[in-house]
Amino acid sequence: MSDDYLPGLENVIASETNISYLDVEKEEIVVRGYDLIELAQNVTYLDIVGLLLDGALPNPDERDSIEEKLREEYGLPQNVNTILQLLPEQADFMDVLRTGISAIASYDVDLEDRSREANTRKAIRLLAKVPEIVANGYRAQTKQPFIDPNKELSYTANFLYMITGRVPTKMEEAIFDQSLIVYSEHEMPNSTFAARVIASTQSDLYGALTGAVASLKGTLHGGANEAVMAMLLEAGSEANLEALMLNKLSKKERIMGFGHRVYMKKADPRALLMKEALAELALDKNQLELYNICVLGEEVMKREKNLHPNLDYYAAPVYYLLGIPIELFTPVFLAARTIGISAHVIEQHDNNRLFRPRVHYKGPRDLHPPQQSG
Ligand code: ACO
Repeated sequence: MSDDYLPGLENVIASETNISYLDVEKEEIVVRGYDLIELAQNVTYLDIVGLLLDGALPNPDERDSIEEKLREEYGLPQNVNTILQLLPEQADFMDVLRTGISAIASYDVDLEDRSREANTRKAIRLLAKVPEIVANGYRAQTKQPFIDPNKELSYTANFLYMITGRVPTKMEEAIFDQSLIVYSEHEMPNSTFAARVIASTQSDLYGALTGAVASLKGTLHGGANEAVMAMLLEAGSEANLEALMLNKLSKKERIMGFGHRVYMKKADPRALLMKEALAELALDKNQLELYNICVLGEEVMKREKNLHPNLDYYAAPVYYLLGIPIELFTPVFLAARTIGISAHVIEQHDNNRLFRPRVHYKGPRDLHPPQQSG
């Protein structure tokens, strides 16, 4: 048994994988051999779905077939919609999403089949239904009527439409699609690791994804995108943001949207792409002030802490300008990551070894309970 203890499993290799790898030196996120950023600039989210599920980029016919399969799986069981409506008003939207994913599991005829074929069918069902749980969960909580999926729209446009009630422009659709790609897969973050740990007991894909939702909710992980937007709105101007950040730093508080366990002092390439998307969107929507505030925040953190923005820092204002309610930023992240997590669960089931680490025990020894008298 190795005696090495690395808190937070920092730099520990936890799996062998063919899915993705962060090559920090080359500043490249390798996904099945491709650079994720190059993919985001050239293909669509549904291509990434094919790439992650089948190992190769789909041709146009194969992509259409993926979209058709997704459309066939649109729609939530009425009882699941009722469950979403019965949740209390103050429910957190990641908890709503967790409950919804947990609830649809019982409707899946393939639930207990761990074969690659069955797991792939389940992944497609999840990809079809998770966006609707996100949208319906929000609409139930805010007492708005559900919006049925529109099969005339692309997968991506339909996702935005079900949330906002408005058919997005081509530019909004393209930017949202790009955001789904950069959120789709990222090696072994806490949520993917949680899903693989769960899957390694031979538990099912739905259970693994439910665990990943709980992991992603935390502000040190996916929850950061919502916290970023709250900070940007609280500041409202460049001068205020600088003061707010300096004040937080003087109190040793973390600034959400900066830093990363793996990139550390290097830039997150996904953030740079979303920064470009924000510039385009802000110009189109006459919201350049928001872009300028973000850039100033980036400069302050570079100067004060030599920290770079991570994806969440620029994805947050992009989602804000797309009209996505702030409470849904992290659920949308999870919806996009559903494909990456599914690919990892499939890989885990295909070549499984139960995760069961050991500990450095630091507690007392040789204690004895009081002896029973008589
Ligand atoms: N704000 C201020 N200081 C920071 C930040 C930050 N966001 N991130 C790291 N630091 C500082 C730490 O205080 C520490 O400084 P010190 O050495 O002077 O004590 C140093 O940088 C190293 O930090 P660690 O906590 O050791 O880094 P770790 O790898 O554990 O943290 C993490 C990574 C959790 C992402 C961290 O950077 C953080 O809390 N960021 C804010 C939350 C966030 O944006 N999460 C999203 C991650 S990306 C994603 O999920 C898509």
